[in-house]
Amino acid sequence: LTPKRLAGERILVTAGPTLEEIDPVRYISNHSSGKMGYAIARQARLRGAEVTLVTGPSCLTPPLGVEVVRVQSAQEMRDAVQGCLPRIDVVIKAAAVADYRPKTRAGEKVKKSQESLCIELEKNPDILAELGAHKGERILVGFAAETQDLVRNAGAKLKAKNLDLVVANDVSQEGAGFNVDTNIAKFLFSDGRIEELPMMGKEELAGVILDNVETLRGEKRGA
Ligand code: PMT
Repeated sequence: LTPKRLAGERILVTAGPTLEEIDPVRYISNHSSGKMGYAIARQARLRGAEVTLVTGPSCLTPPLGVEVVRVQSAQEMRDAVQGCLPRIDVVIKAAAVADYRPKTRAGEKVKKSQESLCIELEKNPDILAELGAHKGERILVGFAAETQDLVRNAGAKLKAKNLDLVVANDVSQEGAGFNVDTNIAKFLFSDGRIEELPMMGKEELAGVILDNVETLRGEKRGA
């Protein structure tokens, strides 16, 4: 039986992709399956936490005992996260949020006519950066999905978004990142520490992330 070391903690996990509509039949999205975020939600629940899972479209079955909020776009994810926030101690953002969305959504299916077509995109809100700007006593854990300069890029996100921990994964590595059952992560902490982990199952990695959340919560309470 898993020791209930996160009993009393209220943890919000985001998972999956966001989906940004172009017209009634087309959209922009990414390859996130939700596996990483769902594993974190499941392991946090097993450790006794009260868990809210805000999930983009995913065909996975949510873990038992977890409150599930289903969203589609980045803007919906932001509204859902902000709505839950007042009662949350820890946010873990494993979701792959689309950085841009089509500036307008066509009301009808776009017809094939020209040889090329431009879709103008505008920036989505950076949900995690917004949380970092009004962090309070919360612990914020972000992910960084990179294909180059993993540590440098992840370190920049840790600082820019005011995170306690960033889980950096090089999504171009085999056995890491999108839509596989394993991941290869490096942890970057706000005090400058870096921890390199071997390839492991996403459930196991979720457990290691939560071990660190426990420590960070303990440190914050003791401070
Ligand atoms: O779902 P799986 O198939 O299991 O795949 C797992 C994963 C590859 C999606 C996961 O391990 C991962 O890396 N998640 C983060 C993906 C991502 O969007 O990374 P990023 O480097 O673009 O974003 C950095 C952080 O900011 C992330 O925590 C992200 O949730 C957050 N973000 C990004 C953009 C935005 N507009 N708002 C955000 O909150």
